[in-house]
Amino acid sequence: MWQRLSFTTQLFLPLGASLLAALIMGGVLLHTFSGGQLAEENEPGRRSTRVIAAALNNTLHTSDNPRQTLDAFVHSLDTSSDIQFRSAEAGPAPSAKDDLRKPHGVPQWFIDLLTIPDLDAASPVMIDGKRVGDLIFLPDMSADLFEKWIGFLALTSLIAVLMVLTGTIAFVLARSALRPLQHLGEGLTRIRRGDYITPIPVCGPPEIRQSCEEANALAATLAQLSEDNRDLLHRLVSLQDDERRDLARELHDELGPLLFSIRAGTIALIETSPPAGNLGNSAQQVLQSVEALQQTNRRILDRLRPLYIEELGLETSVQTLLVNFRKQAPHIGLTATIDPGLNAIDGPLARTVYRVIQEALTNVLRHARASNAHVQAAVTGETLVVEISDDGDGFPEGNAFGRGLTGMHERVRALSGSLSLLRADERTYVRCRLPAGASMSPA
Ligand SMILES: Nc1ncnc2c1ncn2[C@@H]1O[C@H](COP(=O)(O)OP(=O)(O)OP(=O)(O)O)[C@@H](O)[C@H]1O
Ligand SMILES: [Mg+2]
Repeated sequence: MWQRLSFTTQLFLPLGASLLAALIMGGVLLHTFSGGQLAEENEPGRRSTRVIAAALNNTLHTSDNPRQTLDAFVHSLDTSSDIQFRSAEAGPAPSAKDDLRKPHGVPQWFIDLLTIPDLDAASPVMIDGKRVGDLIFLPDMSADLFEKWIGFLALTSLIAVLMVLTGTIAFVLARSALRPLQHLGEGLTRIRRGDYITPIPVCGPPEIRQSCEEANALAATLAQLSEDNRDLLHRLVSLQDDERRDLARELHDELGPLLFSIRAGTIALIETSPPAGNLGNSAQQVLQSVEALQQTNRRILDRLRPLYIEELGLETSVQTLLVNFRKQAPHIGLTATIDPGLNAIDGPLARTVYRVIQEALTNVLRHARASNAHVQAAVTGETLVVEISDDGDGFPEGNAFGRGLTGMHERVRALSGSLSLLRADERTYVRCRLPAGASMSPA
């Protein structure tokens, strides 16, 4: 739960809780100690009241006219004084708590929070052994309350300011440490996606700077490895092509003429031998076998090396491939959109495009159980996009690459392209993107 909170919340929640705890603590302390403190502060007044009462009682005791003396004393008391005389007929003396004067600007909740002490400062005044009233001490506590309120305000403001200051400093510091971490995270994501070029900015505290430098070094190593890998694939694909070309040449230059001469000899034999004899039948069989062999040889040659790419151009070669596919698989409706601009492409890029289409169509025929297929090849800007789609069953679950898809992948990677196999809208897509710029020869 805590882990899911945002960093700012994680930072400010404890600070806010501390502020609240400090306020509650201040309230509890005020409530606990304010009573004792107020009593303590007014203790001298209480004591004075008792002393004055004792002195008054003595004076009244020795006076000839105590009632007159008492009246004179009461008269001398200022009405705003803390010490007041209250005659016995006026009822019980009010406590300081009941007589509290609320100071201006102090809220009631704050006064309720305080414990106002019961000062119990009534001293009886006696005339001839009879209690005629009390000398009571009724202090004005508004100044004390105001002082406490101001103290409370000052303390809470100080705590709040300190909290905000601490929070702001912590936030700024944490942000400045988090930003480089964020850069590092984004950089690592880029590296995972294969972008080794964009460097991670090296900033922040030394520990994070070191991690950024390490990640940049890792990206450089990966870039080097990726380039080496691409070079290797390039060489592998070129070697395969060279080998196929040599094999095709052997088949064409050696086997081709031999088959041709056997065929020519067999035709001559048929022409010279009697039509109904054993020899004639055998010669006919040899002729059929030789013709089958010639066809097989031509098919192998076609698969080994698309000889025509260089001579005819890529677009025309692809069209020938499509014509052969239609002949081979008349039950599959094949449509195509081939950019005529493809003829401007040659070299390994042209061979890759041809091989990708060839292998993908062979797969459609062998695995897809499709009724329709579509081939699309076009150059858009700097990218050559080749897409072969069919409405068949799609790739089986946990599909493993065979030689066909592996070869396609290797060829595409060797040219820094990308190959994706998708299933969308009940169709299977083999899509390949290749950088076209370098291989476009001027028309
Ligand atoms: N168009 C497609 N529709 C459905 N499945 C396909 C399609 N293309 C390929 N597959 C699946 O992918 C697998 C791998 O294809 P891949 O071309 O790599 O090997 P292969 O065709 O089985 O054998 P080969 O090595 O002779 O090409 C196939 O066995 C097939 O299951
Ligand atoms: Mg295949």
